[in-house]
Amino acid sequence: MAVKSIKQRMIGFILGVCMLMLEGCSKTPGGDQYPYSGNGWWKSAVAYEIYVKSFCDSDGDGVGDLNGITSKLDHLKELGAGAIWLTPCYVSPQADNGYDIADYYNIDPAYGTMDDMERLIKEAGDRDIRIVMDLVFNHTSVENEWFRESRSGKDNDKSDWYIWEDPKPDGSAPTNWRSIFGGSAWEYDETRGQYYLHTFLPEQPDLNWANPEVRKALQDIAGFWIDKGVGGFRLDAITYIKKPEVFEDGKPDASDGMAGIHAMTANTEGILDYLHEFKANVQEGTDIFTVGEANGVSPSDLKNWIGKDGVFDMVFEFGLVNIDLPDESNWCRRREWKLSEFKSFFSENLEDSDEAGGWFPVFLENHDQPRSIDHFMPGDGDRIAKGKALAVLLLTMRGTPFIMQGEELGYVNVDWPDIDDYNDISTKNHYSFALEEGYTEEEAMDGVHHFARDSARTPMQWDDSANAGFTTGDPWLPVYPDYQIFNRSSEKKDPDSVLSYYIRLAGLRREHSELSEGSYEDIMPDDECIFAYTREHSGKKATILINFTGSEVRYDADLVKDAVCLTDSAGEDRPGVLSPFEAVIYESGE
Ligand code: NOJ
Repeated sequence: MAVKSIKQRMIGFILGVCMLMLEGCSKTPGGDQYPYSGNGWWKSAVAYEIYVKSFCDSDGDGVGDLNGITSKLDHLKELGAGAIWLTPCYVSPQADNGYDIADYYNIDPAYGTMDDMERLIKEAGDRDIRIVMDLVFNHTSVENEWFRESRSGKDNDKSDWYIWEDPKPDGSAPTNWRSIFGGSAWEYDETRGQYYLHTFLPEQPDLNWANPEVRKALQDIAGFWIDKGVGGFRLDAITYIKKPEVFEDGKPDASDGMAGIHAMTANTEGILDYLHEFKANVQEGTDIFTVGEANGVSPSDLKNWIGKDGVFDMVFEFGLVNIDLPDESNWCRRREWKLSEFKSFFSENLEDSDEAGGWFPVFLENHDQPRSIDHFMPGDGDRIAKGKALAVLLLTMRGTPFIMQGEELGYVNVDWPDIDDYNDISTKNHYSFALEEGYTEEEAMDGVHHFARDSARTPMQWDDSANAGFTTGDPWLPVYPDYQIFNRSSEKKDPDSVLSYYIRLAGLRREHSELSEGSYEDIMPDDECIFAYTREHSGKKATILINFTGSEVRYDADLVKDAVCLTDSAGEDRPGVLSPFEAVIYESGE
């Protein structure tokens, strides 16, 4: 199957020659030449996630757009961004805010035009920033022409491009699977007299990857965007693309008698064959990077997913963000966790990533997750100090850091009082599910306040003018009321703000190569208050210590003896002592 264009092949050839010349300079920790993604430019880059709908509205319709992003590229440059992951901006009816794609080859008019996209790619490129597209390939929108054709009958060219199954003899759904957003994962279609499968909403029918024509069509789409000059792809919900050979009921996991689809289809055997094919036909010989959204892949499985023998450069693994959530479908069942567990997430992933010759994407937030200050820090205490402490973790951990828009301004969760205040369909469904499971309204809202995806999606706060400078119109989602204090313009002027600290850390990361390229060692794995680790590279050692509590804590000052303090989030530099939520970076060596 040949989907790469001549341009791509030429890039591949030139890169191959450059890589030979650079041999020895771009080795993975395992020592193998990393063969697929150019010179690995993305390994030392900072990546920044933009929720397009909420970033910056240039035309006053209340919805963010591509020209808005282009107008803010200098903000991203200041943060050291080398890659911008855009959430889907293709034509979409927006049942799931763009994760339901009707046309992969065009930009949704609400976000602009293809000319706007080309200008964004160009202007970002002029600043050494590459655009990363979100490929939503597990499913399309019901309004995609592929699905329209597929559902029009059992005898058409695309009749098996989706997962169609007959009803059970009693007419009910083929299996008892619950979709990730709640309710049955099957939707009945009158015309075909069959059910189609949807891992997420009924408006998001799953594609049938078993059909080679489907895989080819998806590879063509990726090739189209590579030709436009993008620098990478994030592969959405990619662990769900392979379905089991036989569709069978699962063991019910709640009182609705259903079994969550995640347990039934995530990471099904054979999935890697599809993804190896994708890598060979789309990525090989180009300089793009890939990062898979890999819920269901455990650290021990990483060797099959990343690196030389894997299928992606990096995968987003979910262990950390689910640390307090034993069952993703039930937001009311939170569990207490210890800092040592939090740390072991990093140690395990880094060890397994290095062993696989792959790379680790560091993320504490994304557009589906709560704000990290509320997620990972205890409830009391100064939010600015917490935001800075987490910034140190994000920008000094081994791997490519992914900053979620607003994280650099120290955003916290929204706490809207009523479920009707929320926009996100999954949040509403989680709330209803909690009530059906017998939780009280108060308990259900508590779950919403902790996990609602809207918290990561409120409009970006640019200044203290009306609507935080996000739009001159009516914002599609309310601006967070604290915008007069927490906004880009005020924080830029304040040397003690979270934003100023991000900019400082981005500079340190650039200047001190051990912070981006160094090895990683957790030096106090059992301590339940301090996260302490070292990063070593080229004779330099950085020692990083972060206090995860709201109290003053002590550590052995010998750990930083003869070292220079590169930064101290509390501005104190007292070796051996950390004030509440203080983070420090020391450097020693030649
Ligand atoms: C994961 C995306 O991050 C999320 O926002 C979306 O709702 C689902 N996949 C479905 O595409």
